[in-house]
Amino acid sequence: MEINPAILLKSQHHGNTERVAKAISEEFGIPILDPLEIPPEEALRFDLLLFASGIYFWNLHPDLLYFAKKLPPARGKAAAIISTAGLPSLRWHRNLRGILKEKGFRILGELSLPGYDTYGVLKFIGGIRRGRPGEEDLKKAKEFFAFIEKKWPS
Ligand SMILES: Cc1cc2nc3c(=O)[nH]c(=O)nc-3n(C[C@H](O)[C@H](O)[C@H](O)COP(=O)(O)O)c2cc1C
Repeated sequence: MEINPAILLKSQHHGNTERVAKAISEEFGIPILDPLEIPPEEALRFDLLLFASGIYFWNLHPDLLYFAKKLPPARGKAAAIISTAGLPSLRWHRNLRGILKEKGFRILGELSLPGYDTYGVLKFIGGIRRGRPGEEDLKKAKEFFAFIEKKWPS
């Protein structure tokens, strides 16, 4: 059976997560959707939703969390989470992970990559993670997607 995935993207700081999402989108021919524009019930026509976002205050973007909360029950559907952050960690995914599990999604994988960060006082030192995500990170993101795609639907 052919998988039918979509990426839901929020990227507001430097377009870091957008670069990651575009790398996956172009490699695998997957649409990138704006969670403010697609009604949550319509998103369930996709079998796999890849939630992609920068990390803002130890969390994924609030629009993405709000969107996930509005989704109808999604048993039989799959999800994955990818983020970029100044301090990458899967810990920042916990709220979205919890919502998705409650909705019945099967979570196929999660990845957190470094992203150029000039927020707050960091701008005075030129930011951290300059140049990230770089080519290696984009490669990792594509490998990650290839890996989770293979897990579906089994
Ligand atoms: C308002 C704001 C808050 C942020 N908070 C965090 C944070 O709590 N933890 C972290 O690791 N990075 C934090 N960052 C850095 C971003 O997660 C990082 O730059 C990310 O790659 C941004 O992705 P984007 O360019 O797709 O928006 C923050 C950035 C901004 C602008």
